[in-house]
Amino acid sequence: MYKLLHTLQVELGERSYPIVIGEGVLGEYELSNYVRGSQVMIVTNDVVAPLYLEQAKACFPDKTVDVVVLPDGEKHKDWQTLNLIFDALLEKQHTRKSTLVALGGGVVGDMTGFAAASYQRGVPFIQIPTTLLSQVDSSVGGKTGINHPLGKNMVGAFHQPEAVLIDTNTLHSLPPREISAGLAEVIKYGLIRDTAFLDWLEQAMDKLVGFDSEALAEAIFRSCACKADVVAQDEKENGLRATLNLGHTFGHAIETFAGYGNWLHGEAVGTGMMMAADLSAREGWISSADYDRILHIIRKANLPESPPANMTPADFMSLMAVDKKNVDGLLRLVLLRAVGKAEVTSRATEENLSATLSAFCHQKT
Ligand code: NAD
Ligand code: GLY
Repeated sequence: MYKLLHTLQVELGERSYPIVIGEGVLGEYELSNYVRGSQVMIVTNDVVAPLYLEQAKACFPDKTVDVVVLPDGEKHKDWQTLNLIFDALLEKQHTRKSTLVALGGGVVGDMTGFAAASYQRGVPFIQIPTTLLSQVDSSVGGKTGINHPLGKNMVGAFHQPEAVLIDTNTLHSLPPREISAGLAEVIKYGLIRDTAFLDWLEQAMDKLVGFDSEALAEAIFRSCACKADVVAQDEKENGLRATLNLGHTFGHAIETFAGYGNWLHGEAVGTGMMMAADLSAREGWISSADYDRILHIIRKANLPESPPANMTPADFMSLMAVDKKNVDGLLRLVLLRAVGKAEVTSRATEENLSATLSAFCHQKT
């Protein structure tokens, strides 16, 4: 029997949806109520399918369930792999009433959501995230898409799911490195808008990296609550939502430079948050004690604190020029006005930005 831990609601008017968090819900919690027609297409990958596919199927007892299994990995978050979803939908004659189900991490979630946004001009989908990162961030909020060789997540759509089902038991099959990557996004919420959560994370970090179920469930709940609140206020990222990208401008540059999949998204965000903190300190927004506090928690989460050894300031500048936050050629960054308060700015001085890049890049040119 499953144990229901928390239920949250993402408040978006007629597109509102629940986030159900529990232990053992996968396979036991019925999701058929969120399916309008009779057809379901589960999209997963070759790592997650052997672990959880049968349980996911059991969530739809009275539906016709088809499956498409994608190759695993960030390097497959592309057009070619996306097309495998459309191939399967057409081969199995899925109609506009069909519901797609994303079973896996953020890569499967983002691609399934994008396929749902565009198949027959839009069909519903459900998120069943199975990594910490996808449970605390990517499954909530409706950002979907794929990578382009020139930039991360550059092609996509906003498309909200019908429901998000989080089974905390799935975390126990993850490698420790994936837990750390997820913790980067968890720490992000504390840094941008919730100092009480950051205080709690500092106390709980040893338990979190040690896979403690209770601590992980609490971190997921508080992260989802934070994200749901931001998304409800600014679904399409006209302002507030951009603060969820703390560290992501530097991080996306690292991911693109390293080759998709070589650095985990959360690892790149972890280093990116250190770089954003350094720049915030140079701008006089946070103190050096604040910077040290951030460095300490990033270290405790076992996240990397500097970019690839062969990456130069010039590499950062050219890769950051294609960031989605930029407007009219102006680089916009999320910085910390204080610990617990983020702000999007284009006002960081060139001098301070280049000092940050020089401080973090071992390779100077
Ligand atoms: P991922 O999807 O690549 O999953 C990490 C690895 O774990 C993969 O090999 C996956 O197959 C495997 N895996 C998944 N669940 C598992 C389980 N329970 N046990 C064992 N292995 C498992 O990576 P991720 O960190 O989940 O997601 C990163 C992606 O999410 C990036 O593409 C990033 O851009 C995207 N993202 C999107 C948003 C958004 O708002 N849409 C937010 C943050 C990140
Ligand atoms: N992960 C950033 C966002 O959802 O807006």
